[in-house]
Amino acid sequence: MEKNIAVIFGDGIGPEVTRQSIKVLNAIAQQFNHRFNYKYCLMGADAIDKTGNPLPDQTINVCLNSDAILFGAIGHPKYDNDPTAKVRPEQGLLKLRKSLQLFANIRPVNTYPALHHLSPLKSEKLQNVDFIIYRELTGGIYFGKKEVNKDYTEASDLCVYNKSEIERIAHVAFQDAQKRRKKLTLVDKANVLETSRLWRKVVQEIARAYPDVNVDYMFVDNAAMQIILNPAQFDIILTENMFGDILSDEASVLSGSLGLLPSASVGVSTAMFEPIHGSYPQAAGKDIANPVGSILSAVMMLEYFEMYEEAKLVKEAVAWTQTNGFVTKDINAESFYFTNTIGDLITDYVNNRFPAEINPANIELRKSTII
Ligand code: IPM
Ligand code: MN
Repeated sequence: MEKNIAVIFGDGIGPEVTRQSIKVLNAIAQQFNHRFNYKYCLMGADAIDKTGNPLPDQTINVCLNSDAILFGAIGHPKYDNDPTAKVRPEQGLLKLRKSLQLFANIRPVNTYPALHHLSPLKSEKLQNVDFIIYRELTGGIYFGKKEVNKDYTEASDLCVYNKSEIERIAHVAFQDAQKRRKKLTLVDKANVLETSRLWRKVVQEIARAYPDVNVDYMFVDNAAMQIILNPAQFDIILTENMFGDILSDEASVLSGSLGLLPSASVGVSTAMFEPIHGSYPQAAGKDIANPVGSILSAVMMLEYFEMYEEAKLVKEAVAWTQTNGFVTKDINAESFYFTNTIGDLITDYVNNRFPAEINPANIELRKSTII
């Protein structure tokens, strides 16, 4: 198969983690006789520095004409600390999501038993944790009217949803639930918010078309607690944009590190694949960032291309590194491997060079001695 992939490195650690995914994808192409063509484009602080615009039109065009988008990370502290900045890197990502109508952001949460000790939760709570957050991505408070008064003493963000925006993501989430453990939890704040009551009403209507799926409803404050108290209860969590943003960061720590988790954004146009972590500027350029979130995002891309065998092989390679102590600094600060080394090891595995051909002593050399 031949696929055109738009690659957006973005900011901070975005380039170095995405490069690892490309290495792995190239190995997959070689092993399975595919052809992946990459087109590199700009977004975020990087794009502002180079063009003055966080999302140049050319990036939108390349993305529209690609089969998928692989994206790194966005954000730079110089904007975070300047609340009055008119142009912000994140505007690029939000505009791209909106332009491509990527209304469903899919964030799977699971754990590696070998990393359970890193989770803030006791390991018995982590047994059978395997859920997916379906976060609505192109509506709600992120995209409602924003206002600030002249003397900057009052501001507002409007949260708006309409029925069809809720319906389209609800269908995707219900269909996925049917393929899994057939349980869907709608997370909202229907005791307070009108938009949440609309979500409940629409989801209740849609649920009738999926009688085999068990639906329950949970207020977001309770959900934040339940993710910690009993995360194994969840199968599919369906929620609006901002609740999904917050809960998915919370849920990521179950796995031991935010750096491990991937995501896919799907909708009307070209799907986009990105790790859920941010640009982690303190680590940029140091070769210490965790590339696994990006590589697992590339796995989701392979699944989207219906390359299931290929996806399975990369997943297996990632699991092999994580369960054998080949991990980055966020996972083990005392004994860690560099970003590039983890990318190489996963690539080697895909190239069928494990475990026989690789000499552990050579891997040892690629290990950091910095403690
Ligand atoms: C995410 C990020 C983005 C979001 C930011 C960078 C705009 O946190 O993808 O979760 O809030 O959606
Ligand atoms: Mn986020």
